[in-house]
Amino acid sequence: MIETLEWTDAGVRFIDQTKLPTEETYVVCTTHGQVADVIRTMVVRGAPAIGVSAAMGIALGVKNSVAASESELRREFDEIARIIGETRPTAVNLFWAIQRMKAKLDSLRGKSIVEIKSALIEESKRMHAEDIAANQAMGRHGATLMPSSGGVLTHCNAGALATAGYGTALGVIRAAVEAGKKIHVYADETRPFLQGSRLTAWELMKDGISTTVISDNMAGAMMRRGKIQAIVVGADRIAANGDVANKIGTYSVAVLAKEHGIPFYVAAPISTVDLATPDGSKIPIEQRNAKEVTHIGGRQMVPDGVSVENPAFDVTPAKYVEAIITERGIARAPYGESLLALANEEVAAVR
Ligand code: MRU
Repeated sequence: MIETLEWTDAGVRFIDQTKLPTEETYVVCTTHGQVADVIRTMVVRGAPAIGVSAAMGIALGVKNSVAASESELRREFDEIARIIGETRPTAVNLFWAIQRMKAKLDSLRGKSIVEIKSALIEESKRMHAEDIAANQAMGRHGATLMPSSGGVLTHCNAGALATAGYGTALGVIRAAVEAGKKIHVYADETRPFLQGSRLTAWELMKDGISTTVISDNMAGAMMRRGKIQAIVVGADRIAANGDVANKIGTYSVAVLAKEHGIPFYVAAPISTVDLATPDGSKIPIEQRNAKEVTHIGGRQMVPDGVSVENPAFDVTPAKYVEAIITERGIARAPYGESLLALANEEVAAVR
């Protein structure tokens, strides 16, 4: 399995996703500031991977601390969490991970500094292992929804590279293929950062899963030509009502799917469900550097001085979503009820 990120004795090691698919190189971070930088610059990206990176970044920062007392260490923890929390605003897994590390710290009151450091490192490693297990469970649930044969479209990269391993949307596809389904993947290129053509195609090829890359503007024509039997994407944040924030372009795919009667599925762990956000209009959308749009591979494609927009995500209203696949089961509309039930682990009630 692809090692997206891992805790090592030398530091937190990341595959450098900005260099893929042509170079497979790794970056080792030894400070929490470096981890914040790799999240911001998208050396590591994808909501669940960002969450686990945040946890390991915090663990690294605490490990490096020379605080002499528990209260000093707690103050340093808050500063480390603040720095990591300012990297990317949309993926709620980042904030979920920070809260979980904070809760762990709170459970360690009165312990020695050595014990606190080691417990926080272990917690971040546990989150890494749990993420892989969640993706495999999501795969088992979601595989049942995939066609026994045919084309499955995905947008962006919601694969091993976007998680601790196996993937959410690509985990569903992997599990379906492992179960013997004859699936051909159509990977949207995913302008402007090209996660589909650079990353999804790379990891599916490594697994021997047949894949065709299409430019984003081909998706509708492919659906009309009968090439696509299902769509599965990941999510960066799912509001309490089932509205889904995901990579820019996802909304267009969902609307096209509705027009063509193709089921549009979202696969995401429960940590991506944000019950505190009532609907998609309240999800903060990250605006990234215009250069990601104006330049391709370092070459300028847009005239100097022209106005450019670069929202990294869009929101797909819940009405376009056929089902949300989580590690605890499959949620269907009305999502206000089904997501709440899953979040409360009442799995049997929604399946
Ligand atoms: O900007 P990115 O590459 O971090 O955006 C990633 C996505 O939008 C993914 O689809 C989402 O995080 C789900 S990853 C399992």
